[in-house]
Amino acid sequence: MFIRQIESGDVEAVLALWAEAGMTGDAQLGDSRQEITEKMTRDSDLFLVGEANKRIVATVMGTYDGHRGRIKRLAVKSDCRRSGLGHQIVSELESRFAERGISRVRLEVWAENKSAQTFWENLGYQLQSDIRYYLRNFDQSVDPC
Ligand SMILES: CC(C)(COP(=O)(O)OP(=O)(O)OC[C@H]1O[C@@H](n2cnc3c(N)ncnc32)[C@H](O)[C@@H]1OP(=O)(O)O)[C@@H](O)C(=O)NCCC(=O)NCCS
Repeated sequence: MFIRQIESGDVEAVLALWAEAGMTGDAQLGDSRQEITEKMTRDSDLFLVGEANKRIVATVMGTYDGHRGRIKRLAVKSDCRRSGLGHQIVSELESRFAERGISRVRLEVWAENKSAQTFWENLGYQLQSDIRYYLRNFDQSVDPC
């Protein structure tokens, strides 16, 4: 897998991958498209895609709020899972965080997503059981996380 920064021609393939991974329903498609285009204008070097045989097979998005990094939108194409691609693309993002001096990162996982929890724990991420996640949607939209 070749890992690189997202390019404008990748948008549809990225949306298709997120849909396949259950991360973007029809109702959130517009929001996701907007998230991609906005992210491409800021810290786009932290928005990575993995390419194999001219297909986008993995994505991960890093953000930085000036204090810590955050990891979002990790997805690997279903027929490519359990081959280390998730690990590879997260490692590349971690290196890019480190190059910027970002040494603390956080992420959210849906409670029912046990396989992702195993994935993160195996990479050394620790569950913060003493933190509760609060959300207020001023526009009543669904948060894709
Ligand atoms: C989570 C996800 C990105 C993992 O990608 P992947 O390429 O399969 O992960 P890797 O092959 O690098 O796996 C690394 C390790 O994580 C663990 N792991 C990964 N998927 C797992 C699963 N389904 N069940 C149990 N452990 C799993 C294993 O320990 C694995 O090592 P091993 O295969 O040697 O046992 C992928 O399953 C996915 O896209 N899921 C749908 C979207 C999603 O849930 N994203 C995460 C949002 S937080």
